[in-house]
Amino acid sequence: MQITSRPFGVMADGTPVACWTLVNDNGLTAEVIEYGAAIRTLLVPDSRGQLVDVVLGYDTLEAYVKQDCYLGATIGRFGNRIANGRFTLNGKEYQLYVKDLHHLHGGQKGFDKVVWSGRQVGDAVAFSYCSPDGEEGYPGTLHVTVTMGWKGNALELAYEAVSDQDTIVNLTNHSYFNLNGHGSGSIHGHVMQINADRFNLGDENCLPTGELVPVEGTAMDFRAPKAIGRDIDSDEPCVKGSGGYDSNFCLCGNPAAVTTGDKTGITMITCTDQPGMQLYTGNFLTYRTGKAGSTYDFRGALCLETQHYPDSIHHPEWPSCILRAGETFRSVTSYEFR
Ligand code: GAL
Repeated sequence: MQITSRPFGVMADGTPVACWTLVNDNGLTAEVIEYGAAIRTLLVPDSRGQLVDVVLGYDTLEAYVKQDCYLGATIGRFGNRIANGRFTLNGKEYQLYVKDLHHLHGGQKGFDKVVWSGRQVGDAVAFSYCSPDGEEGYPGTLHVTVTMGWKGNALELAYEAVSDQDTIVNLTNHSYFNLNGHGSGSIHGHVMQINADRFNLGDENCLPTGELVPVEGTAMDFRAPKAIGRDIDSDEPCVKGSGGYDSNFCLCGNPAAVTTGDKTGITMITCTDQPGMQLYTGNFLTYRTGKAGSTYDFRGALCLETQHYPDSIHHPEWPSCILRAGETFRSVTSYEFR
């Protein structure tokens, strides 16, 4: 294991941003920048042993600051949507930032847009951020750490958060994976299996209606391996309304997902202790230039956002996203490569 850091850029206010590189004993390499605690590079071997970079990213800090789609970033304080950006906790109502009717991914300046501080802890790097009471409208000062490191050929993301007041938390990572290599075109040929027999039905704005629908007989059925492109353009509302996959699966256990790039043979096994996982197939990704002159476009990657069910603060019957004052939220998600 080799861990190093180098300067990546400087924010407009003078804050330096480092890029951390974690290389495991087999040469698998992750690069993570402190801005957004974002995974910038993930080099993993294909079936011939050649290293392939399987995540979308940018070359400069400026490009990350300008970006509109959370490339590689750690998402918080609350990933995914909260209806009308409003919720009540302990009898008090909180209003969060709203875009397209609802609150999304932590608001206007979520955890993807702040500078985290990285430090090596054993064989991993811990990225920490202190979110002040009232930031983006959320109650409580929240100390949050995501520790990233290789465990064998699995990149493990371990989240921890503590608040001094009751609050809500839903942390995830928004890496855009393309297992054929970033910039290699559409992910329609990727084959996926997802360990879920129900999903959250969403309305036309991807907000859960509250109904958990069996995947059986729908485009959301990935219980047996299936090419992503097979049903992605079907007329079913679960894909049509969002221009592709953009829904939460109710997970049944691990592995949560097994995904294979059809051109490289690279397989990624996603494991998590979270109850849900959003499959998002880059439906809003528009043409842009990424790392080393590569180009990214519509459905050029997929995100597997392990999470609480979206809008779970309004559904007490679902696993709770409430973090009580002084208690520690802990969660682990890993992406293993074979
Ligand atoms: C996803 C979300 C999508 C879209 C995307 C970012 O997690 O479900 O609807 O907002 O992030 O472009």
